[in-house]
Amino acid sequence: MNPASLEARDAQSVIHGLTNLKRHLELGPTVIERGHGVWVTDNHGREYLEAMSGLWCISLGYGEQRLAAVAAKQMAQLAYYPLISHKSHPAAIELAEKLLVIAPAPMSRVWFANSGSEANDCAVRLAWYYWNAVGKPAKRKLLAHRQSYHGNTIASASLSGVSYNHAGFGLPLPGFLHVACPHFYRGAKPDESESAFTQRLLADLEARILFEGADTIAAFFTEPIIAAGGVIVPPAGYFDGLQALLKKHDILLVCDEVVTGFARTGHMFGSTAMNIVPDMLVCAKGLSGAYIPISALMINERVFQAIARQSDELGVFGLTMTYCGHPVASAVAREAIRIYETEDFPARVRRLEAPFLGGLRELASHPLVGEVRGMGLLAGVELVRSKVMREPFDENQKIGAVCAAICEKHGLILRAIGDTLALCPPLVISEAEIAELLKRLRLALDETAATLRV
Ligand SMILES: Cc1ncc(COP(=O)(O)O)c(C=O)c1O
Repeated sequence: MNPASLEARDAQSVIHGLTNLKRHLELGPTVIERGHGVWVTDNHGREYLEAMSGLWCISLGYGEQRLAAVAAKQMAQLAYYPLISHKSHPAAIELAEKLLVIAPAPMSRVWFANSGSEANDCAVRLAWYYWNAVGKPAKRKLLAHRQSYHGNTIASASLSGVSYNHAGFGLPLPGFLHVACPHFYRGAKPDESESAFTQRLLADLEARILFEGADTIAAFFTEPIIAAGGVIVPPAGYFDGLQALLKKHDILLVCDEVVTGFARTGHMFGSTAMNIVPDMLVCAKGLSGAYIPISALMINERVFQAIARQSDELGVFGLTMTYCGHPVASAVAREAIRIYETEDFPARVRRLEAPFLGGLRELASHPLVGEVRGMGLLAGVELVRSKVMREPFDENQKIGAVCAAICEKHGLILRAIGDTLALCPPLVISEAEIAELLKRLRLALDETAATLRV
């Protein structure tokens, strides 16, 4: 690396997440300088089709001038005001009102934060506050799925069921418990039907609740589709059974829609797609189309009434962060929702699901592809050593990463999650761009297979 290059300067100055920090000193980064629609360009002028929306987030694509214009206008008018101590501003009010109207289940109030991690962290805090308020302070434990991803603050990393969040950090914290991931392809026993698999998982979950004691469990966190854990779509009936169990044992349900919110699945929220009626709902990413950091936590009337009573008793609701409901972020998010609605992005995604997922499913006949799964414009393609036996590759071969690197060589950016290739293109992608994505992916799969043969 030329020491004056952006690559070398990055290696000498920036710490990168989900990166081998030592190897990064030799490899340096791919430096992306600009974007338009689903395309990004690096500092050497190479163009890539960004099939991961950056990090599952730039839903309206790059270069959306309406969002830039709203941000500039709001910055000029009121760049900042806090939401503490009975103060407010129109941008937060308008966004909160809109979220309550489009929420997939009856919701009563909105709490704003800056990232999905923070909003999940706040949801943990609110679950604890809620159970204190209703006189059940022993309900403290939190349940989530193995392989789920809920973020990277201490609480949200503890909720996450992926080991890279925990290893080396001494996490999860005590009281954050993980149950089986509802992934039929990987979790089913030989000859087990999908419904038998679902029933087994739910029976195991109930046994776990009874073992821990329902009177010690505050909430269950779930994504409608487990995204960063490998794009796993739980089987039909799973969420019905899960919700019945949580109701029976009086455990709050928090739905993490950080990836699935805002039309990603072909519905405004994944909860609608999966028939989930949560007590709290977390959204971020697509909320502002990633043009600016903002997240929201919606809570239902049951939770709101209890926390309002408790804050009255304590004199104050002791939760705040400087940038909660930042006016610029709120205005951008409100505009993003206007675009999702006026251009009917849920319908657009439902229309594009056939060419996108259908095209990926055609790859299921490829010798490396074990399972293609997904919904709307969200998909996972799992690579396997043996299709018949569903035998995975040796982890050390890092086949997913090898294939993702070959994709990048062909101008396609996706993300390897273990040996699953995750795809989550901007919702503005056209049919022609989907065809291009599929062409490049097939080419990369063929090349990956060829490297294995030599
Ligand atoms: C489902 C889910 N929840 C929470 C988060 C954390 O959001 P953030 O990275 O904005 O903190 C993510 C991030 O990918 C996510 O996928």
